[in-house]
Amino acid sequence: MHILSLTPTLLPLLALLPGVSAHGYLAKVTIDGTDYVGNVPNAKPDPSPIRQIDDIGPVKGASNPFLNCGQAAALASVVAPANSGSKVQFLWGDPGATNWPHNTGPLMTYMAQCTGTTCDKFNGSTAQWFKIDEIGKKPDGTTWYQQDVMNGQAIEVTLPQNLAPGDYLIRHEIIALHLANSLGGAEFYPSCTQVRIGGSGTGTPNATVLFPGAYNDNDPGIFDPDVFNPGQVYAFPGPPISNLASASDSSSTEGGQAPSSAISGGIVSPTNAGGSKATSTPASSAPTASSTASSGKTCKLRKQDSGSYARKRGVDAAGRKRHFLRSAVARSSS
Ligand SMILES: *[C@@H]1O[C@H](CO)[C@@H](O)[C@H](O)[C@H]1NC(C)=O
Ligand SMILES: *[C@@H]1O[C@H](CO)[C@@H](O)[C@H](O)[C@H]1NC(C)=O
Repeated sequence: MHILSLTPTLLPLLALLPGVSAHGYLAKVTIDGTDYVGNVPNAKPDPSPIRQIDDIGPVKGASNPFLNCGQAAALASVVAPANSGSKVQFLWGDPGATNWPHNTGPLMTYMAQCTGTTCDKFNGSTAQWFKIDEIGKKPDGTTWYQQDVMNGQAIEVTLPQNLAPGDYLIRHEIIALHLANSLGGAEFYPSCTQVRIGGSGTGTPNATVLFPGAYNDNDPGIFDPDVFNPGQVYAFPGPPISNLASASDSSSTEGGQAPSSAISGGIVSPTNAGGSKATSTPASSAPTASSTASSGKTCKLRKQDSGSYARKRGVDAAGRKRHFLRSAVARSSS
């Protein structure tokens, strides 16, 4: 309810900028059936475990400091209970205004322990992230899972089975690639949700990365002249999926690692082996935001992107549900 009443505060801004399309933000997270509503960017925040950003536009540039938790993300007041193996659903968009407007590019999920403090006090710029899930194109090789986000569907990620208890950030990220055929054109939409993992797991990640640090503007999955080429095999940016992977990860359909080794949780050495990019980069020497574009508020939809948006808007709720179930089946049967 409060979202609907607060959303109009954004409208005057949008009205001043003709041609601007709304992008969106992480509007809701559902953890094992409990809903947590995200705060509208810049609105007076209600208690939430989702870190509030101050702008629905994209983060631009792989060295942008906001790449860790989103545009000027603020600490959130709630740390939500969760467990190893919890099912977490992420709903993006701008509720009451528009669905998520993009359909091209991957969705990736990372976690990081809030070391030394609770997550409501933990600064994400020093977080040591490990990737638990990545989804790109569906088995048809052409449609991205991001299309489901555009259709108004939540994206479900199962947390790893053997997480050591403690406070963690979950960094669920959309990258929109509709402008990625220009260097610096990729649009990053990171989000951070604060959770407290219970239980008695013992797993620790075998490698971690920093944000910014884990991506490069030249990475093939970020600067991608071939992004609209049907059948192109997409190269996910960032580290490989960690030994602590989503318990239902299905990236094998997209050319990633088969998840089988990760499902068990496994016994891992509790080190941050330096194998991944940026693991040892101290936060203080992270690259500056020199490549940060300030054009975040004026992103254009590519025709291809917006055309299929319009078509998909016609799908009724039941159709969306069927579509979602089909994709869920496709993912889990792979
Ligand atoms: C985290 O630290 C960075 C660098 O010191 C600072 O710019 C940023 O505002 C801090 N973020 C939060 C949420 O306190
Ligand atoms: C961590 O484990 C994953 C999954 O087994 C593997 O793909 C990755 O290469 C490992 N990373 C390092 C640095 O050992």
